[in-house]
Amino acid sequence: MSLMSIDRRRFLKNAAMLAIAGNNPALFAAEEPVRIRKIIPSSGEKLAVVGMGTSRTFINPDDAAFQQQLLEVLRIFFSNGGQLLDSSPMYGPAESIVGQLLPKLDNAGDLFAATKVWTRGEQAGIEQMRESMRKMSVPVMDLMQIHNLKDWQTHLKTLREWKEQGKIRYLGVTTSHGRFHSELIDIMRKEPLDFVQLSYNIMDREAEQVLLPMAQDKGIATLINRPYQRGELFSRSRGKPLPAVAEELHCTSWGQLYLKWILGHPAATCVIPASSKPKHTRDNMGAGFAELPDQTQRKQILQAFNSL
Ligand SMILES: NC(=O)c1ccc[n+]([C@@H]2O[C@H](COP(=O)([O-])OP(=O)(O)OC[C@H]3O[C@@H](n4cnc5c(N)ncnc54)[C@H](OP(=O)(O)O)[C@@H]3O)[C@@H](O)[C@H]2O)c1
Repeated sequence: MSLMSIDRRRFLKNAAMLAIAGNNPALFAAEEPVRIRKIIPSSGEKLAVVGMGTSRTFINPDDAAFQQQLLEVLRIFFSNGGQLLDSSPMYGPAESIVGQLLPKLDNAGDLFAATKVWTRGEQAGIEQMRESMRKMSVPVMDLMQIHNLKDWQTHLKTLREWKEQGKIRYLGVTTSHGRFHSELIDIMRKEPLDFVQLSYNIMDREAEQVLLPMAQDKGIATLINRPYQRGELFSRSRGKPLPAVAEELHCTSWGQLYLKWILGHPAATCVIPASSKPKHTRDNMGAGFAELPDQTQRKQILQAFNSL
């Protein structure tokens, strides 16, 4: 019997368990699914490759039924090995909703909390970051990022001090939609960073030119935002059959293929798709198991996407 078929059988068993387990983590105890984690170069710490964003999905704080739905999203996220939640003061009530829902879960022990500073001025930045930590109910923020490079020189100084004082564990800078790339490249060249966050997906590949190779070269972890081009990728693939490579990679949806295609890039550390739906969250978390595509398989996924 080939190794591949043993892997395949093991995966199918695990996939079946994932489907059965739903929100009951105790059911995982019999056999752990193979969870993919990548290393944060600045520390050597391992991080689950599928995280979650909260922009435009962690909303409607006064709608009790919707909050129950988001609680279910978080339960599924953590019971499938999720760790990194990405928020920002820019996302309205998202930080507060995360802070209110987390204590209701008994499986959020592996949380890797990430948020951003998004204002001008040293004191305003300090106050905003304190407020974010209070809202998200985290005594130490795992990752604090400067949102869209806003007043980055000022905040980077504070973030360095806070990291030394143990208030945050990692620091980083974010961008998206291909904006500010040359300025970000300049910062990455000159300043030691733990993380950069940027947009990268099968339709928007600009980051392959300089940002991703530079992150790899400098040992900077990457968070990949807009992995679905804000959902646009699904309008191309909805209802279309999956290519043969999907089975090799144990992908049961286009969404999983899109996320695995990104994660097959050696510089991509963690993708942060956003969803307010339990079904989509379960789908997204499925990309964090079994194996990632090699360069040949990435090409096959790309060809399949281009022929849609
Ligand atoms: N400058 C920055 O720092 C910056 C900028 C942009 C984004 N971000 C971060 O990156 C995160 C993700 O980016 P994004 O929200 O712009 O875009 P995205 O994750 O590419 O797309 C989100 C959209 O995809 C849909 N979706 C998610 N999973 C799906 C699935 N399995 N099947 C079908 N549809 C699915 C969601 O709808 P449903 O809710 O219906 O599932 C939502 O409409 C943000 O939440 C934020 O944390 C940061």
